[in-house]
Amino acid sequence: MAKLKVAILISGRGSNMAALIEAAKAADYPAEIALVVSNVAEAPGLAIARKEGVPTAVVSHRDRPDRETFDRAVSVELERHGVELVTLAGFMRIFSPWFPTRWAGRLINIHPSLLPCFKGLHVQQQALDAGVRLSGCTVHFVIPDLDAGPIIAQAAVPVLPDDDAERLAARVLAAEHRLFPLALRLVADGRARIVVAPDGSERVAIADAAAPLDAILNPLD
Ligand code: GRF
Repeated sequence: MAKLKVAILISGRGSNMAALIEAAKAADYPAEIALVVSNVAEAPGLAIARKEGVPTAVVSHRDRPDRETFDRAVSVELERHGVELVTLAGFMRIFSPWFPTRWAGRLINIHPSLLPCFKGLHVQQQALDAGVRLSGCTVHFVIPDLDAGPIIAQAAVPVLPDDDAERLAARVLAAEHRLFPLALRLVADGRARIVVAPDGSERVAIADAAAPLDAILNPLD
């Protein structure tokens, strides 16, 4: 079966990108990483992608007059490479509504909290300030609202008594590296699909009986 052509959008370190590239090396993985795009030319993740032989592109937001012009330039690059699904892995630009509309149902993001808790920036500090005992990460379809959209998969990690934001972020990041490849697999092989719930809201349904449990990952197992 042909593999789904996937792009990864980054702005920095690229450790989630590296986890996706690694997972996609498996012969039975249903996606291939066709392109990595960064809005920051110096993003360390670009060097990792090049070393892995993945095509890269830089689309700077600096020389664009507004968000939608930038979004359209990214989209042109994605189309040029035949991309069918877009993943956001530490991509630090907020889109205009145009981009998530153009890529609706084909755009997924990883966020380092158990959404809908703790959106935006300084997520681990938000979790510590709230005193939660569990944090984690979420992979979700992207909609125009920030850090919202149908949830595909989540993983929980404990918040420990002596945690600071950095220690908690490191524990969450290790879970992200396992969760994102799993969630991309579910989407790429067609098992995770958006459905409309009776109340009109969108949810992700997972097609086979075993997979829903895979979408709830407990990294302590
Ligand atoms: C991750 O924690 C991701 O959830 C968030 O930004 C961070 C990116 O890290 N959106 P990396 O670039 O993947 O190492």
